[in-house]
Amino acid sequence: MSNQTHKDVYVNPPDENYPGARQRSKPGQGPAEETYDRTKDAYGNIVTDKPANRAILASQKRRLEHEAKLKSHTEQRKAKSKLNSTRSSIWSILPFLIFLPLLSSFLTQTYSFGLSPYFLPPLRRFWAETPLNPFKVEMKMFTPQSLALYDGKEDRPVYLAIDGTVYDVSSNRRIYGKGGSYNMMAGRDASRAFTTGCFETHLTHDTRGLSEAEIASLEHWKSFFANHEKYPKIGYVKNPPLTDSDPIPEPCRVAEPEPDSKGQHAPGEAAAKKGKSKPEPVHG
Ligand code: HEM
Repeated sequence: MSNQTHKDVYVNPPDENYPGARQRSKPGQGPAEETYDRTKDAYGNIVTDKPANRAILASQKRRLEHEAKLKSHTEQRKAKSKLNSTRSSIWSILPFLIFLPLLSSFLTQTYSFGLSPYFLPPLRRFWAETPLNPFKVEMKMFTPQSLALYDGKEDRPVYLAIDGTVYDVSSNRRIYGKGGSYNMMAGRDASRAFTTGCFETHLTHDTRGLSEAEIASLEHWKSFFANHEKYPKIGYVKNPPLTDSDPIPEPCRVAEPEPDSKGQHAPGEAAAKKGKSKPEPVHG
């Protein structure tokens, strides 16, 4: 099957030059060329998803998934070990935290190394009122009438108010409850009586016309209740406004507190000097 083009020279016909070789065609002119979608491989290269690439692309995908899984497992393990170490550090300082108040109680007969009068009450007040406190007690609003229900005569809690702020004094029913020596102060805002000691005629929130010493005395009682561990603040009373036509209460028989005493209450002591007697229980 050879062609003789020149004498003595034999040339193979074109399809026999490279047996099995396909006829090459120019791009676009070939018979039914297949086109493939383009895609990105794991490294961001743009490749076609022709069958020859598919296996590589699939293996790259599997490797990436595997690496992501490994990474998330490592992160989870790290987070867990961090949590465990925090827990174990809390447990390790717990005995110390329990020991501190015991030591304080042994040394100073208080649980806070005697810091209470200066440090704890403001802290406690802040904690009681801050929105950060999840156990914050919502403050109640009273009218003089609704406050009067808590005067200790019934089985209800005992409340008293001073300068508009209401405290729960139920923990001291013996003094403020029925028959108690200061029962007349319960269920009302008797700010004036706190400063003047007129427990019969000054059971009012009217603090007009008080002397400097009496104002200092009022401040003393306000901070006494605000800082008292057993008298939680529970709300406010809306006292009726006073007008010029309301007369300022007359001074009563009890003399004004000594200016140098700054309104401090030392039961019995100052009174004994002046020959006064403790207020009698008021029944009503
Ligand atoms: C301005 C005059 C006075 C005011 C405003 C006043 C007010 C008070 C108040 C509010 C309490 C209760 C404190 C608490 O919650 O723990 C109290 C207790 C006490 N007061 Fe007065 N007081 C005055 C004068 C007197 C006088 C003249 C005496 C008599 C000597 C006296 C003797 C006592 C006693 C013994 C207690 C303790 C009651 C107890 O634990 O049973 N107070 N005072």
